[in-house]
Amino acid sequence: MGLVSLLMGDLQVMGKVEEDPPWRQFTEHYLPWHGHVTALTVAPQYRRLGLAQSLTKALERGCEEENAWFVDLFVREGNKTAVGLYEGLGYAGSLLITSILRTQIPMMTSKQL
Ligand SMILES: CC(C)(COP(=O)(O)OP(=O)(O)OC[C@H]1O[C@@H](n2cnc3c(N)ncnc32)[C@H](O)[C@@H]1OP(=O)(O)O)[C@@H](O)C(=O)NCCC(=O)NCCS
Repeated sequence: MGLVSLLMGDLQVMGKVEEDPPWRQFTEHYLPWHGHVTALTVAPQYRRLGLAQSLTKALERGCEEENAWFVDLFVREGNKTAVGLYEGLGYAGSLLITSILRTQIPMMTSKQL
């Protein structure tokens, strides 16, 4: 597993490149070598400047250099700002995640590299 992160106080993007363990390879949910956006935040005073777009693209480039097949991420569909950001960058798809409270949370997902 590789880690990609940029932390500068007012900006943060964290991600990783990983794949599921071999024993999952023949299951329908197996995830091959891919990038994952773990966290993305821009401080309120620096928003709407295109920084989140730039950070996400930088992370995608890092994943591509690591030969990742795609990048995925989880974002609540209710987070309209982030959904708009990711849709604009070409992320698509959705799935329901069952939380530890057993409630189902709609999430957006992935982008082919
Ligand atoms: C989501 C977040 C990272 C966006 O950061 P940002 O640097 O302001 O985003 P950008 O300037 O790169 O904007 C990219 C796109 O995001 C969307 N967007 C950003 N701010 C928006 C707003 N206030 N209202 C609606 N859409 C918005 C737009 O689609 C925008 O594209 P456009 O400028 O061409 O319209 C920032 O609002 C944030 O840190 N939010 C809290 C943390 C969070 O929700 N992180 C994502 C969790 S997965």
